[in-house]
Amino acid sequence: MRILAVDIGFGYTKATDGRQFQVFKSIVGEANPIQFAEALLPSQAAQPRHFAIDEEEVFVGELAEAQSRGRGFTLDHAQFLAKYAKILGLAALAPFAEHGDPLRVVTGLPISFFRKYKDTVTTMLQQRHNITVVQANGAREDKTLYIEKVRVIPQPFGSLFNLMLDGQGKALQQRFLTEKIGVIDIGFRTTDFSISDKTRYSERGSLSTDSGISVAYNAISNLLHEKSGTQVELYRLYEAAARGVIKIKGHKYDLTALVQQAYSQLATRIAIEASRVWADDWDMDAIVITGGGGMILAPYLQTQIEGEVLAMPPDQDARLNNVIGYWKYGVHIWPG
Ligand SMILES: Nc1ncnc2c1ncn2[C@@H]1O[C@H](COP(=O)(O)OP(=O)(O)OP(=O)(O)O)[C@@H](O)[C@H]1O
Ligand SMILES: [Mg+2]
Repeated sequence: MRILAVDIGFGYTKATDGRQFQVFKSIVGEANPIQFAEALLPSQAAQPRHFAIDEEEVFVGELAEAQSRGRGFTLDHAQFLAKYAKILGLAALAPFAEHGDPLRVVTGLPISFFRKYKDTVTTMLQQRHNITVVQANGAREDKTLYIEKVRVIPQPFGSLFNLMLDGQGKALQQRFLTEKIGVIDIGFRTTDFSISDKTRYSERGSLSTDSGISVAYNAISNLLHEKSGTQVELYRLYEAAARGVIKIKGHKYDLTALVQQAYSQLATRIAIEASRVWADDWDMDAIVITGGGGMILAPYLQTQIEGEVLAMPPDQDARLNNVIGYWKYGVHIWPG
C-alpha cells in the first residue's frame, strides 16, 4: 500500500509521494506525432507528459502548451472536473505508482465545491485505471493505477495539515491544535477562506471566491491586447509576470508597473473579502496565507490584513503547501 497525494488546481497540478514532487500546468492537449521528439539540445530527462487515458491520446502540462493544436484549459469548475481533472490527476500520479500496486490517494476540492463534488471526485479516482505512459523516445508502457482508496478534503486544509503534522503524520506544532487559525489559500482561479478552531472546521468562516491570480492576469492581458493587438492566453503569462517583461511579435513590453498595480488591487479585494467573511471571528489567533498566489500577494497583503500573519516556509514553493499537507494527512489516517 502506497500513500500519494494530488492537488489538481486550475493553474497547476501538483502530486507527491512524500519524497518527490510533480508540478505541471493544468493544460490538456491533443497528442500529435512530433517529428523530432528529441530536444534540440540535450537536457535532463523529465517525467512523461504523453499518455493514453480512456482511449484518448493526450499531452499534459508544458508539452501540451508547446505542442498541441487543440488545447484544453478552463476556469469553469464543472467543465474542469468533467473533462480534465481525471487526466491531470492520473498523469501526475503515474510516476509514483508501480503497475497494479494498491494506492491510497488524498486530494482536495475548493470549499464551495466540496459538498457537491466530493463523491464525484472519489468515484472518478477510486478505480483500476489502465493507462499507457509514452516516454519521450516513443516507448510505450501499459500501466494499471490501482487506486483502492480516496479521501477528499477541503483544499486549504492541506496547508493547515502541512503546518500541523510532521512526515510521520504526528502533530508537530501545538498552537494549531489549541488556537483558532484562519487560512487564505490564493490559487490561480479561486481564493479559499477557511478557519480551523482547535482543529475543528468552521463553516461560518469558510468561503470560496473568484479572487485568484487570474483576475490580475486578466487585467494584464486586456491591457496588453490594447497595446499589441494580441490576446495572450492567461496560462502564458506566468513567466512574463514573474520576469516583468513579455515579447510579442518581436516587441518587448515592460510589465513591471502593470503587474504591481494588478497584484496590489487584487490584494485589496482579498483583504476586503477576508474582513467580510471573518467579521464575527475577531478572536482569531493567527492567519496563514498560502497557495502559489499567496506567495506572490503576501507582500501586498501583509499590510492590509489585520492580525498576526504566519509566514509559510519561504524556501519552499508555496504551490506545494496543500499537496504536502494532503500527503501528511494520508499518513495520519492510514498509518502503515
Ligand atoms: N514558481 C512559480 N511558477 C509559477 N507560478 C508561481 C510560482 N510561484 C508562485 N506562482 C503563482 O502561483 C499561482 C498558482 O498557484 P497554485 O498552484 O496554488 O494555484 P492552483 O491551485 O492551480 O489554483 P486553484 O487553487 O485556483 O485551483 C500562479 O498564478 C502564480 O502567480
Ligand atoms: Mg489551489
